[in-house]
Amino acid sequence: MRFATRSRPRAAPPARPLRRAREQRRAGYGVLLLCFLFAWPPATVVDEVELDSLEPELPVAGPSSHETLPEEVVPLRYDLQLTLDPERSTTFEGHVSIHLNITRETSSIMFNARNLVLESIVLFQAIEQLQPAEVLKDAGWERVTLHFREALSPGNAVLQISYAGEMGKDMAGLYTSRYKSRRGWKTLALTQFEAIDARRMLPCWDEPSRKAVFALSVVVPAELMAVSNMPAASETTLERGKRRITFLDTPRMSSYLLALAVGRFDTIQAQTVNGTLIRVLTMPGQAAQGTFALSVAARALSYYEEYFGVPFPLPKLDMLAAPDFAAGAMENWGLVIYREVDLLCNETTVGVARKVRIATVVTHELSHMWFGNLVTMEWWDQLWLNEGFANWMQTQAVDVLFPEWHIWEQYVVEEQSRALQLDALRSSHPVEVPIRRAKEVDEVFDAISYCKGGSVVRMVNGVLGKELFRKGLGLYMRRFAYRNTDSTDLWSCWEEVSGMPLMAMMSSWTKQQGFPVLMVNETKTSRTGGSSRLLLSQRWFLADGSEEPEEGNHKKLWQIPLLPGPGGTDDHLIMESPEMRWEKKDGFLKFNFGQVAPYRVLYDSSLYGSLSQALRNGQVNALDRIGLLLDALAFAKQGKLPMAQLLGLVSAYKGEKSTHVWQALSEVLSTLHRMASFAESSFSALTDAVGNGMLRDALQEVGIAASAKETDLTRHKRALILRLMAMYLPKDKALAEEAKLRFERWLNAQDLQDTLPDDLKTSIFKIVLTNAETDAPYNALRRYARRTDIPQAVRLSIYTALGSAKRKDLRMKTLDMATGGRSGVRLQDIMYPVQGVSQADPDGAQLAWRWFIQRRRSIMARLKGANVRLLGVVIQLAAGAVPDKAHANAVEAFFQQHPVPGLERSIAQVVENVRTDAKFMMRFEDEMQGEEMKELLKGFEL
Ligand SMILES: *[C@@H]1O[C@H](CO)[C@@H](O)[C@H](O)[C@H]1NC(C)=O
Ligand SMILES: *[C@@H]1O[C@H](CO)[C@@H](O)[C@H](O)[C@H]1NC(C)=O
Ligand SMILES: *[C@@H]1O[C@H](CO)[C@@H](O)[C@H](O)[C@H]1NC(C)=O
Ligand SMILES: *[C@@H]1O[C@H](CO)[C@@H](O)[C@H](O)[C@H]1NC(C)=O
Ligand SMILES: [Zn+2]
Repeated sequence: MRFATRSRPRAAPPARPLRRAREQRRAGYGVLLLCFLFAWPPATVVDEVELDSLEPELPVAGPSSHETLPEEVVPLRYDLQLTLDPERSTTFEGHVSIHLNITRETSSIMFNARNLVLESIVLFQAIEQLQPAEVLKDAGWERVTLHFREALSPGNAVLQISYAGEMGKDMAGLYTSRYKSRRGWKTLALTQFEAIDARRMLPCWDEPSRKAVFALSVVVPAELMAVSNMPAASETTLERGKRRITFLDTPRMSSYLLALAVGRFDTIQAQTVNGTLIRVLTMPGQAAQGTFALSVAARALSYYEEYFGVPFPLPKLDMLAAPDFAAGAMENWGLVIYREVDLLCNETTVGVARKVRIATVVTHELSHMWFGNLVTMEWWDQLWLNEGFANWMQTQAVDVLFPEWHIWEQYVVEEQSRALQLDALRSSHPVEVPIRRAKEVDEVFDAISYCKGGSVVRMVNGVLGKELFRKGLGLYMRRFAYRNTDSTDLWSCWEEVSGMPLMAMMSSWTKQQGFPVLMVNETKTSRTGGSSRLLLSQRWFLADGSEEPEEGNHKKLWQIPLLPGPGGTDDHLIMESPEMRWEKKDGFLKFNFGQVAPYRVLYDSSLYGSLSQALRNGQVNALDRIGLLLDALAFAKQGKLPMAQLLGLVSAYKGEKSTHVWQALSEVLSTLHRMASFAESSFSALTDAVGNGMLRDALQEVGIAASAKETDLTRHKRALILRLMAMYLPKDKALAEEAKLRFERWLNAQDLQDTLPDDLKTSIFKIVLTNAETDAPYNALRRYARRTDIPQAVRLSIYTALGSAKRKDLRMKTLDMATGGRSGVRLQDIMYPVQGVSQADPDGAQLAWRWFIQRRRSIMARLKGANVRLLGVVIQLAAGAVPDKAHANAVEAFFQQHPVPGLERSIAQVVENVRTDAKFMMRFEDEMQGEEMKELLKGFEL
């Protein structure tokens, strides 16, 4: 793509064509960046924090907008020795020598530590050896201050600390996890530090801009393997069956990227074209499941070296599949740690969605090896720089490695639409969000930082064109290697290579909460037909259709790339005023062509007519078919588009072939089904029309059995359609019989020969449970999930399906799996049973909330110490599924009475979402009555 420089826009001002002009850099972008990836299947994010910490007193705030450690003491290098034996003890011992540069005279040194017992502390400076006169611990701030009797003079010093720590089970800091080995259950130790848990393993300056060299050595039982960011430099056998492993020095890096794992691992390995060693490490017996991820990693690493023009900065890359992990994966430099389900699979049976997910998680994490690890955000308020960029880059890389997946279409259905959903709430937040205390960052690992961030990056790529975009990135990598940056550093690299002003445009997207709807109204049609005069206007898009209040005359305004299409226009016009005129030529016109930017477009009804026509004529490409559908759903929720028009549009997709357009249809049809099931009056009319019409046709076309030569996308389409059938017509006789047959064949297969494609498992299980006359299938599934020799993905399908059991007591048993105990799920999987029940049907939605209220204490106790985002997901699932105003009030009141520190914003989002759904629900009920609607629904039938 090119960017317009001279070509005249066809529109009258106030559009601004992008000029090759420098624009003044605006002051006041005090922001920076960081990372890690969550996401469990429906792509939700998970992280870690304390639930019950009392809010400590704030120290007096400095001039800075956030609270950081004093700057006069600079850590340069950590020589760290750890002694641990995770199979026998949960404690570990540490000894660290921190090389410091004291840049100004001071008599105190402040650093971070949490739950460490500091046993001896000595400071060496020149020939002196000093003991602190006083050691002050601030548990709330997780800081320790050493006060010395005399002032320390500027220059180098070494701080030596011996200490002891405890390994918990809460998937944060240095923690333990259990796995099945050939000799029974064993325990491994591993780390998860982002954002602020390195301080649980060692005293350190635990802030992203305090980069230093880490030189780690560990003493462990000789039979265990130890891996860290760097390869081992030496191994020494010690007495009493111990071994010391000393790793090479890391490059200068942030503390949150340090990593260690100690256990009994199997490995497989490969080399990139240029000789970098890549390994996949698994628990015993699982290495063969790592081949797919390994091959993706080898190819992705080479792709990135070429794309960034910077070689992979480390000698090796390890990827470890951990049995207990809070996030989806974490990009520790040189030792990326994943949830098993996001790294391992059997390439022959894995479902397509899972395979795509593994590929994108791997490409996401590997992109951080450069973007995030080599160049790091200055502070957590720039988290989006890490995550938004990786969210874009993961897709770009997968598109290159697997062009047959058309992943950008999936990006628009999944990632971009999650950004637009969350960001349409008043309780959303700007991409660049002030983070005063590091603890506040956990809540910001959300769809705004990841998906809106990624969508904004995609917009820049669209506006600048691929080549300039990449050139700017290369410049950024080279200029800021081993350093820290904020958003403006990235914008200026792009400005520098392109000569285009980006600062003002970008800040309208990243500093301002929300996004616009572009409204397109026809003001005059020419007599000859076709061409017409349009009025474009922009407004803040709010999910519930409410309007922005006038705040002292200040209306939000975005600089919107209009991206008109189709028709090879090279006018990349930016609309920066509230309104502008547009001359429309013959034929159909769509703005945001290719869904390149994160905004919605609402056409008036005459224009909708011409778009629908173009759709029926097959003139609209898949990306735009997706965009039109998802926008229409959002407008219907707002009450700006009548239900009749939405259904009319949906019926224009009859016979749709594209898998990803089906994915978008599935969004719409699932929403309609959910509304209809709560509004019983219109239920059967809709389910009949859609289920027996559109869906049955589609299933017939794709067939229930796979054929040998079919593509991944065809397989994926079958999974999508079966999922909708399981939702719309779970009691359909033929379907129920087919499902039962396949279920029994799968259950009774010998030697784990898996006869049921992973893609179809959840749907088949749900249909079987819905039609079951006894408890037998439910019990069989639960037993199956307890086996240790099955892939984790199968276990998760079962957890989710168990919520479809008919009887309330079985559903309650399912929910209680989340509270742990012998038949419970691992802490990391706590959300799956809750999701299964709350999304099963209206009864399930109510039950999940009642369960949460009843079991609040045990849920909280279980999640205490774990990343707060896990609890956030549980609350969202348990509290957010009933579209009813009274329910919203109840949830709000409940959390006012039982506040959850660190989740205030997430809870406000749940409540706002429920209120929005409730309003939609009322309109839906009204509009679905009546004869006209019956006529319309006929449009879905054959
Ligand atoms: C220590 O800090 C001073 C002042 O910032 C600087 O000039 C010096 O180069 C630093 N020394 C080291 C070893 O980093
Ligand atoms: C391999 O290394 C050479 C020389 O450093 C470089 O030119 C080339 O781009 C690299 N290839 C890849 C795939 O990274
Ligand atoms: C455009 O039309 C819609 C209704 O179709 C209306 O609500 C809106 O106010 C119009 N916008 C302008 C700027 O006239
Ligand atoms: C993958 O699954 C197939 C079919 O169940 C099985 O034959 C094969 O051994 C499995 N491969 C691995 C690596 O587990
Ligand atoms: Zn990430």
